[in-house]
Amino acid sequence: MAFKEVERMSQETPSREQWNSRLGFILAATGSAIGLGNIWKFPFVTGEYGGAAFVLVYLICIVVVGFPVMLIEFSMGRHTQRNPVGAYATIAGRKSVWIWAGGLGVLAGFVILSYYSVVAGWCLAYIVKAFSGSFSTYAQPAHAGHAFETFVGQTGWVLFYHFTFMVLCVAIVTRGIRSGIEKASRLLMPTLLLILLLLVIRGLLLPGAGAGLKYLFQPDFSKLSGEAVLVALGHAFFTLSLGMGAMITYGSHIPKRDDLIGSTILVMLLDTGIALLAGIAIFTSVFAYDLDPQGGPGLIFHVLPVVFGKMPMGTLFAVLFFVLLSIAALTSGISLLEVVTSYVVDEKGWDRKIATLVFGGVIFLLGIPSALSFGVWADIKLGEWTLFDFFDYVSFKYMLPLGGFLSILFVLNSWKVNHFLDELKEGSKWTLVRLVNCVLVLVATLIVVVFLSELGFFAWLFGKPQAA
Ligand code: TRP
Repeated sequence: MAFKEVERMSQETPSREQWNSRLGFILAATGSAIGLGNIWKFPFVTGEYGGAAFVLVYLICIVVVGFPVMLIEFSMGRHTQRNPVGAYATIAGRKSVWIWAGGLGVLAGFVILSYYSVVAGWCLAYIVKAFSGSFSTYAQPAHAGHAFETFVGQTGWVLFYHFTFMVLCVAIVTRGIRSGIEKASRLLMPTLLLILLLLVIRGLLLPGAGAGLKYLFQPDFSKLSGEAVLVALGHAFFTLSLGMGAMITYGSHIPKRDDLIGSTILVMLLDTGIALLAGIAIFTSVFAYDLDPQGGPGLIFHVLPVVFGKMPMGTLFAVLFFVLLSIAALTSGISLLEVVTSYVVDEKGWDRKIATLVFGGVIFLLGIPSALSFGVWADIKLGEWTLFDFFDYVSFKYMLPLGGFLSILFVLNSWKVNHFLDELKEGSKWTLVRLVNCVLVLVATLIVVVFLSELGFFAWLFGKPQAA
């Protein structure tokens, strides 16, 4: 029965909207990957879990876990031309339990976007704050910290900006793949890169920047805990937008002639490169002004404003920085909303406009508890967690790795590896020889890095050890 039904379903929608060009797709997929995860989260978790040693574990997770899972998601999407639930159903059958794996992804999309939009709202608010020149009064850490605490406690404003961010997401996703998501990414991603490069150069030119580089790139393995490894794994999924079917959804619009392996490598390199560049921009500045890198989720909101308050032309750099963050958040937010939207459009036959409006609204409401958990609802705790922590930890520490795990199990058990490889080969110029070459170069590089670190090369390069 399942097979007939699947055949009928694919006849109903013969031509799915496809990306205009490969570049457009790469920009949209990197837009999804590069987000608050890279610029807000990566620096503060690196700060919390021991600097460069954490970065190394994270990079290993990206290559060993992220790479195969992204290949699986793109292939499942392109093979089935469906949203996550539809993708599992098309391969395994409508009645199969596997559709719950897709359902888990759609649910994760709801949860992540609900709190993601709250933080994105803070970024929008900080553009306005930076413009108004208020950062010049933040040269003292206590002032900047106090200003942040006061701001996140102002229910009305926080909800206003959370709402504004959701409106922006809805406005883009409503327009569909080509004229919505692809067009926005083509405009926003080059802008993001340009701003980030400016900020990196600014950071590197500050006196004392070397200490920041050392913090980011010189590993101290004694600081690495088991918890740090779990966080690195969860973050690898989060930053690559994996484990909930966002890449299945984006993959469902890729034409057969495109090379999935090459695209995956490019998206991973760009995402990782941008995270490291953001780390360089942020830690060089934090160390140059002798501030504490372990600021937690508030790192960029109460530590960086101090930097901008002290830096020459700080207002300009502050505006640029928060515009950068907002762009990164927006191109990720739209990918999260697209997962939910494509699910109801494909499976339930909803109109796209109505779907985005309804779910944009529902996600706004779901985000309210997270938004208020920094203010009037700060005392509502689930164990040690605030409501915000709850949404954040449950999604990125558990739902995403579980979703990734299920997609691997699915390929092994239901779709079968040979079918997966058939889809992967289509349009690809990658041969086994080329892949093995890459793996060997990577392993050789890793060995060299470990040896250089052991011989004290990085200590020599980045200067004498300093207290963090
Ligand atoms: N990758 C984004 C970031 O780093 C967040 C994101 C967008 C995401 N889409 C996703 C995370 C899908 C998990 C799944 O900020």
